[in-house]
Amino acid sequence: NWTMEEFIGKEIARIREICGPTGRVIGAVSGGVDSSVAAKLMHEAIGDRFHAIMVDNGVLRLDEAAQVHKMLSEDLGVNLTVVDASDLFLEKLRDVEDPEQKRKIIGNNFIHVFEREAARIEKEAEDEELKGAEKKGRVEWLLQGTLYPDVIESISFKGPSATIKTHHNVGGLLKDMKLKLIEPLRELFKDEVRALGPLLDIPAHLVQRHPFPGPGLAIRILGPVTREQVRILQKADEIYISEIRKAGLYDQISQAFAVLLPVKAVGVMGDQRTYEQVIALRAVQSEDFMTADWFDFPPNVLRKISSRITNEVEGINRVTYDISSKPPATVEWL
Ligand code: XMP
Repeated sequence: NWTMEEFIGKEIARIREICGPTGRVIGAVSGGVDSSVAAKLMHEAIGDRFHAIMVDNGVLRLDEAAQVHKMLSEDLGVNLTVVDASDLFLEKLRDVEDPEQKRKIIGNNFIHVFEREAARIEKEAEDEELKGAEKKGRVEWLLQGTLYPDVIESISFKGPSATIKTHHNVGGLLKDMKLKLIEPLRELFKDEVRALGPLLDIPAHLVQRHPFPGPGLAIRILGPVTREQVRILQKADEIYISEIRKAGLYDQISQAFAVLLPVKAVGVMGDQRTYEQVIALRAVQSEDFMTADWFDFPPNVLRKISSRITNEVEGINRVTYDISSKPPATVEWL
């Protein structure tokens, strides 16, 4: 048992001990509360020896890379590099429909990009040393914002056949990686991570952000992932979330997002028949994401969202609302 203040002190001490006086860490940041809290902890513990990397994998939300860059460097002062790897990811995802395959591709390429970044940072340090700067330590560690429920779910949720879903930030996919893993949040539940936020001067809007999965929009596009499908989903999702915020409901919902279905439905515009794709809206309330209830929206909010999406998003003529709880459904559709 510990208080959150004690946890921070204890964890910072542990990180300093693990890293030694010169060791350096690169960190996966996404702009979510977990990776932001983890990144700020690393920043407090070892300052510039922590290098935060945000990978733009081409399946982020609208303008997300730019927003995260602004948020993390301006609000938190974390040393952050945004790597645009969208071409690589979208090329690898081409024609892939299977959800676990999508997760694997994104997880593996994520690691690949990370190793490349670590090598780049290492090379830059060597070049500086050649120019007479003081000796720098090696990049030995990879930060992950893994939480306790991720650890439990990946260990114990094995059915007779296989794991329900592979969460990319736990074990398995990291097997080829040469960096060692550092996971400062692995003993914490989500609400505990949120409670850490204010103590680490992380702004409230960041602490309250809904979680966003590592595989991003790739697991919310139910068919093959293309730039065009990403564009459609980004726009629908942006409208959905901004209307939720306008209605003052964002903080009552644990996670909300749009899903792009790989089916076409008939509609009508003017006197023209349309034949376009369908958006499913998902919003859940949950304590720990092991179970979840669908969110009971005021009808006028759904009406506004539906009207805006069908009017403003080219390629969509129908919007549905998902009224499934977890279990038996999961939060994500894939
Ligand atoms: P499910 O769909 O398993 O989602 O009920 C529970 C929570 O986990 C998130 N999620 C993921 N996060 N990589 C992640 O980093 C994944 O592959 C992944 N799959 C689901 C989901 O968004 C929800 O918050």
